Amino acid sequence: MATARYRESPFLVGHHRPNRMEVDAPDLFIEGELPDDLAGVFYRNGAEPLYPPTDEDYHWFDGDGMVYAFFLGEGRVSLRNRWVRTEKLLLEMKEGRRLFGVHGNPMTTDSKAAGTRYNTANTNVILHGGKLLALMEGAPPVELDPRTLDTLGEEHYGGVITTTFSAHPKVDHGTGELINIGVIARNKGTEPEIRYDIIDSEGRPTKTEFIPVPHQSMMHTFFVTENHVVFPVTPLDVSITRAIAGGPLVAWDPHRPTKLGVMPRTGTAADVRWFEAEPRHMMHEANVWEQDGRLVADVAAADGTALFPDINGHRRSHQETRQSLRRWTIDPGAATDVVREEILNDRDIQFPRPDDRLMTRPSAHAFANSNLHSADGRADGMDSVVRVDTRTGAEDLYHFGDGAAAGELIFAPRVGGTDELDGYALTLMHRAGAAETELVVFDARNLSGGPLARVLIPFAIPSGFHCNYYSVDSPLYRQAMA
Ligand SMILES: [Fe+2]
Repeated sequence: MATARYRESPFLVGHHRPNRMEVDAPDLFIEGELPDDLAGVFYRNGAEPLYPPTDEDYHWFDGDGMVYAFFLGEGRVSLRNRWVRTEKLLLEMKEGRRLFGVHGNPMTTDSKAAGTRYNTANTNVILHGGKLLALMEGAPPVELDPRTLDTLGEEHYGGVITTTFSAHPKVDHGTGELINIGVIARNKGTEPEIRYDIIDSEGRPTKTEFIPVPHQSMMHTFFVTENHVVFPVTPLDVSITRAIAGGPLVAWDPHRPTKLGVMPRTGTAADVRWFEAEPRHMMHEANVWEQDGRLVADVAAADGTALFPDINGHRRSHQETRQSLRRWTIDPGAATDVVREEILNDRDIQFPRPDDRLMTRPSAHAFANSNLHSADGRADGMDSVVRVDTRTGAEDLYHFGDGAAAGELIFAPRVGGTDELDGYALTLMHRAGAAETELVVFDARNLSGGPLARVLIPFAIPSGFHCNYYSVDSPLYRQAMA
């Protein structure tokens, strides 16, 4: 029987439409001039279900991971993309159809998938310890060859980390360590716990700690500074009990505050101190650091979310839950446990990012995609990119035009550059129904001046999740490509 077409879903049409093919595309056409000192690799991961989902309610987060690698240098760009061949996808390829329910829901998963882990590896893709790792937060990383993108298998760190792993582990560029959490590590009766890991620059785990949390939340990210780690427990509650009773598995609970657990990086669960903020949806931060004894976290946050229903099953709109760039300040020296919040810039943003080399250390600029005119940023697309000076809130914005869908905007240092803005900013620009996608190159200091170069990809890459750039002179690149 032939493979059926996708069922209707806002995340399978328009600029989200999966391309369903693997490609090697050399020497892409370029409009404008690719700078000579932009040399490295740009990786992007996203969800592209090979087989049509069988559940009615396909979710943006549910498709199979497809990694795109753009190799840049000497004014040229080549592209390769490959599905991450997880055990889940290999089993479905063998059967020639989808076996798993949405998010791996056991109630709607085919019995043939029993014993196989639901790992889509679709959310992020990073270099660390000489390996290219495709990440999702519900399962271990999947290692890929950094050049060919061939799947090499799940990375279990010598058997130490075999359950959940973060899609947003942090690389401390000072120490080379990868700091990680596992959100559904274990649940001993009533008290849920997460797992905290430190992995050294060679990929060896050096510390694992279990941390009790106030409730099981969707902890999509966490914060790391030079000396501290912060576990954000937001009102986005995960409850199997509620799901069994017929309610949503993941739901916004407006009665819960946002709790931030602060712990020394070298500490134990007994050292965690909890701070409290208003109920906030927060899945991504630009950067977090220590300043005058306080912890400063620049985050994309909102008063709710359109991604999931509330505990009563009601779902709010994107316009009602627009995220803005906010600064949270935590003062461990204060008598109170209150987190201070200020809005740095009130644009509708997603995916804020720093110069990654400054992660855990002070930074002054956040790159993000933004939305001027789309009615629903996620479904319609984010039509702009922006850099915000986080000291002043001043913005440098470029609008691609209505109907455009910009991916995550990331900083790409020029070869030999060390300063925060000394380089470029890269994003993928998608358009519904377009035959091409563009990899757009900006001067990091001047987005509003428009692109320096547009790399033309001769097919439509769907909007995806996270990307990372590694310059040829970065230690992470050299370690992986040696
Ligand atoms: Fe993310």
